[in-house]
Amino acid sequence: EKGPFEHFMLKEIHEQPLTLRGTMLGRINDGNQVSFPELAHAAGAFQQVDKIFIVACGTAYHAGLVGGTVLEKLTRIPVQCDIASEFRYRDPIVTDRTLVIVVSQSGETADTLAALQESRRQGAKVLAITNVPTSSVARDADYVIATKAGPEIAVASTKAYTAQLLAFYLFGIYLAQERQTLSAELHAELIKGLKSLPVQVEKLLENANQVKLYAESIKDAESLFFIGRGLDYAVALEGSLKLKEISYIHSEAYAAGELKHGTLALIEKDTPVIALATQMDLYEKTVSNIKEVKARGAHVMGITVEGNVGLLNAVDEICFIPPSHGLLAPILAVVPLQLISYYASLALENDIDKPRNLAKSVTVE
Ligand code: M6R
Repeated sequence: EKGPFEHFMLKEIHEQPLTLRGTMLGRINDGNQVSFPELAHAAGAFQQVDKIFIVACGTAYHAGLVGGTVLEKLTRIPVQCDIASEFRYRDPIVTDRTLVIVVSQSGETADTLAALQESRRQGAKVLAITNVPTSSVARDADYVIATKAGPEIAVASTKAYTAQLLAFYLFGIYLAQERQTLSAELHAELIKGLKSLPVQVEKLLENANQVKLYAESIKDAESLFFIGRGLDYAVALEGSLKLKEISYIHSEAYAAGELKHGTLALIEKDTPVIALATQMDLYEKTVSNIKEVKARGAHVMGITVEGNVGLLNAVDEICFIPPSHGLLAPILAVVPLQLISYYASLALENDIDKPRNLAKSVTVE
C-alpha cells in the first residue's frame, strides 16, 4: 500500500534509506569485511576471472555502468558493460574465465535472461544481481546477490537502482578483498562511506522541496540536457531515462566533454541543463563545460557536493549532496534526479506509476 504517499514512486523513493540498510544488513561483518553468506559456495571461484561483462537493460544497465567503473577501480579486472539485447546477438568473447554479471530488478527480463543463458552455454560463470530471489534469472545463474529493496511497484525504478549500486559496491569490495587489490585506507573509507549513505539519503529527502520547485519550472520545456563526466555521466543517463519515462519530456544525457563535438549546437537561450559535478577529480573540467553551456544561454541546475559553493558563480540553481567518497556519490546524486522526474510528472498530471507504453517487467524481446 502507498501509505501517506500519493504514488508508489514517491513511496519507493522515500523507502531508500530503509532499503539501503536492508541491502547492507549482514554483509559487513564486525571486522568491517564484506561477506556474502549466499556466496559461500563460490569460495575461490572468482580467482581466475580475467574479464567481467555486466549485462542488463534500462535502469539496471545504468546501475551496471556505475558498477563497471567501481569493479575496475577496486579489482583492476577489465569490465565491459552491455545492453542485454545487444550483447546476446553480437557474439561477445566469453570464456570459462569470464564472469558475466546480469542485473535485473524483476529477474524476468527476456533479453537479460537470454544473455545469461547464452553466457553459461559458452562456459562463463554468471552472477545475478536481482531483487527477486525466486525469479528466472536467479534460478538460472551460478551465483545470486539479492538486492533487498522489497517489491517495486512503480514502473519507474528508483529504490531497485540504488540497491543495485549498493550491491556493486559491496561485491567490488568483496572481490578486492579476495584478490587483495584494495589498500586498507581505501577499504576503510569505503566501508565508512557505505554505512553513512542511509542517513545521507534521508537528509536529501528532507530537502526535497527545493528540487520540487525546480521540477515544476521545467515542466513545459521542450527538451533538456543532463551532463556530467565519469560516474556523473552514468548518473546523468539514469536521470534522463527517468525524466523521459514518466514526464514524457525529451531529454538527452551527454558526457560533458563531448558536448562541443555536436550537441552544443542545440543549446540556446533558456535550454534547461542539469549538470552533475560530484566527481572532485573531474570537477574543474566539468565546470568548464558548464561555462560552455552557460555562454550559450542555458539555464543550469548544478548538482554538486556540499562545500563547493564556488559553483554558485557558474550556475543558476544549485542542489548539494552530502560529502562522500566519489565512487559512492551516484547513490546520493540520483536522489534529486528521481525527485525532479517525479515532481515534473506530477505537475504535468501524468499517470506516474503507470507511464504510457511501458510495462514493469519486459518478458518479451
Ligand atoms: O526488471 P529489470 O531490472 O530487468 O528491468 C529492466 C528495465 O526494463 C527497467 O529498468 C526499466 O528501464 C525501468 N522502467 C526504468 O525505470
